[in-house]
Amino acid sequence: MSENLRALVTGASGGLGAEIARVLASEGFDLLLVARSEPKLQALKVELETAHGIEAQAFPCDLSREDAALDVYDCVLGRGMCIDALVNNAGFGDSGVFHEADWFRQRDMVQVNVIALMQLTRLFVPPMVKRRCGMALNLSSVAAFSAGPYMSVYYATKAYVLSFSEALAEELRGTGVTVTAL
Ligand SMILES: NC(=O)c1ccc[n+]([C@@H]2O[C@H](COP(=O)([O-])OP(=O)(O)OC[C@H]3O[C@@H](n4cnc5c(N)ncnc54)[C@H](OP(=O)(O)O)[C@@H]3O)[C@@H](O)[C@H]2O)c1
Repeated sequence: MSENLRALVTGASGGLGAEIARVLASEGFDLLLVARSEPKLQALKVELETAHGIEAQAFPCDLSREDAALDVYDCVLGRGMCIDALVNNAGFGDSGVFHEADWFRQRDMVQVNVIALMQLTRLFVPPMVKRRCGMALNLSSVAAFSAGPYMSVYYATKAYVLSFSEALAEELRGTGVTVTAL
């Protein structure tokens, strides 16, 4: 098995997640790429392994499912991997008035943007603390700094991510583990 540090990137099938994966690969990280679209993850795996000589693995997973984070954790344990950097990037928004919004889409948004992020952090940070080394990067937004009429749930999820990340960063001060909100 490779001696490189390894990063887990959620929402790696496109957008910012794929770009973050490219940056990490260029810095020599092996990668576990998580999102729903397996063909896109496989294409990125081939691209990054070819371009940077790192090892990338794809794990297709729908993070809107309850306890999906446990499946990711089991995958990591099952493949004998150690995660040095956790990038909680997967997320999405929706617009419209809340009282007419599709309930299941709002619920899934909280599940992906908040619950999965929180659960992945709960699962992957303890081994980092034990090793006294690691980092978590959580995708927030400028939406965290104000209320967002017509995108109320999205803005609230990003405020959660910022508040949660800042609190954890303080709790983990001196442990060798950093938490950053982007
Ligand atoms: N782009 C911006 O300007 C901006 C600004 C501020 C914050 N952000 C935040 O940055 C993050 C990435 O944004 P982006 O613009 O790159 O979004 P994007 O292009 O829509 O990509 C979102 C990623 O999340 C994944 N994802 C969505 N739902 C998922 C689910 N149920 N399970 C697993 N993965 C899921 C998608 O993969 P699949 O569809 O394959 O599952 C995709 O890889 C988000 O958290 C977003 O809120 C973005």
